[in-house]
Amino acid sequence: MIENQSYAFGCAPDAVDPNIVPKRKLYTGAEMPGIGLGTFGSDRFTGAEISAAVIEAASVGYRHFDCASVYGNENLIGQSLKSIGEAGVTREDLWVTSKLWNDKHGEDDVIASCKKSLADLQLNYVDLYLVHWPFPNFHAPGCDVTSRSANAKPYIHDNFMKTWREMEKLVEMGLAKHIGTSNMTVAKLKLVLRDAKIKPACNEMELHPHFQQPELFDFCIDNGIGPIGFCPIGSPTRPDRDKTDTDTVDIEDPVIKSIAQRLGVHPAVVCVKWAAQRGQIPIPFSVYRNEFLGNLISTIIDPLTDDEMRAIASIDRNCRLIKGQVFLWKEGQTWEDLWDINGEITPA
Ligand SMILES: NC(=O)c1ccc[n+]([C@@H]2O[C@H](COP(=O)([O-])OP(=O)(O)OC[C@H]3O[C@@H](n4cnc5c(N)ncnc54)[C@H](OP(=O)(O)O)[C@@H]3O)[C@@H](O)[C@H]2O)c1
Repeated sequence: MIENQSYAFGCAPDAVDPNIVPKRKLYTGAEMPGIGLGTFGSDRFTGAEISAAVIEAASVGYRHFDCASVYGNENLIGQSLKSIGEAGVTREDLWVTSKLWNDKHGEDDVIASCKKSLADLQLNYVDLYLVHWPFPNFHAPGCDVTSRSANAKPYIHDNFMKTWREMEKLVEMGLAKHIGTSNMTVAKLKLVLRDAKIKPACNEMELHPHFQQPELFDFCIDNGIGPIGFCPIGSPTRPDRDKTDTDTVDIEDPVIKSIAQRLGVHPAVVCVKWAAQRGQIPIPFSVYRNEFLGNLISTIIDPLTDDEMRAIASIDRNCRLIKGQVFLWKEGQTWEDLWDINGEITPA
């Protein structure tokens, strides 16, 4: 296990009983662990480091792992899940999410992609299978935000529903217990809810104190869609290619820092704690035991006060970090066009 000497979490237990970690009930009646471990190492961590962290995280009480084919490490995480099972954790106690990548939206690709993830993860089913992005697109992993695909396409609802029909088949075939969306907007979700036979159980979306997406968050809650929050700490060490000059840093916010001081924790832990208390399902990433243990412990200790929750609500900066520039489909667009900010789907 990698040691990270720069961080200390005082007087903490060595592990958390998974039974006391908060659960989120989905419209199907299923309960998912209210915090998961992210597994996207970008170009900073190897698959071996991440799959080792998955085993260690399970040993301290994590039962929910957020995976995706594009992270390129599902085969190694599969070996970890096998070890976790051999150590006595039952399949029913685990929650494993995987995701359909953007170049696999075609009708012949969805079931095959899920089966490939299942083979890599050494599972018979995933608990949740998400359409990773609503745009079908090919771009190389790790490419620059200025990269554009010659055949990039806008969101075409009829095409998305063809993909969604295949997603629904995964549930019917027993390969996925639940299906869901990611990186959606209210406008797109309204159409999916109107036309889906099996509605999305979850929507994975960017959520952190400086990007709270109140409208989409409330829409998900009101429609029984579990909001899974990615980049819950504001992804402070993401690669420079994913940063812009106007991005703000959640863990440097004075409100977050002062609550962290009161609790004697790193500001990152406050971001995770706020997320779980607000009712989203954060999936913070870390390969460091002290960090992922601290994040897990935050969900079981005394809640933040009402004043602290109000103070964090007031620091929203509407600062989207994962802007999705590579999905832009024609000249003259800005990344805001991907996010239907006027409440209507941006015309093709
Ligand atoms: N659906 C999607 O499109 C999508 C998009 C992005 C991400 N995701 C998912 O969301 C997960 C999390 O996103 P993310 O990794 O970008 O951002 P994040 O979880 O907000 O930030 C992760 C970073 O925060 C630091 N950190 C974590 N816990 C800490 C602690 N207790 N104390 C101090 N620092 C701490 C670590 O930095 P150091 O490594 O420097 O210690 C870690 O690399 C991903 O792994 C992936 O599973 C999904």
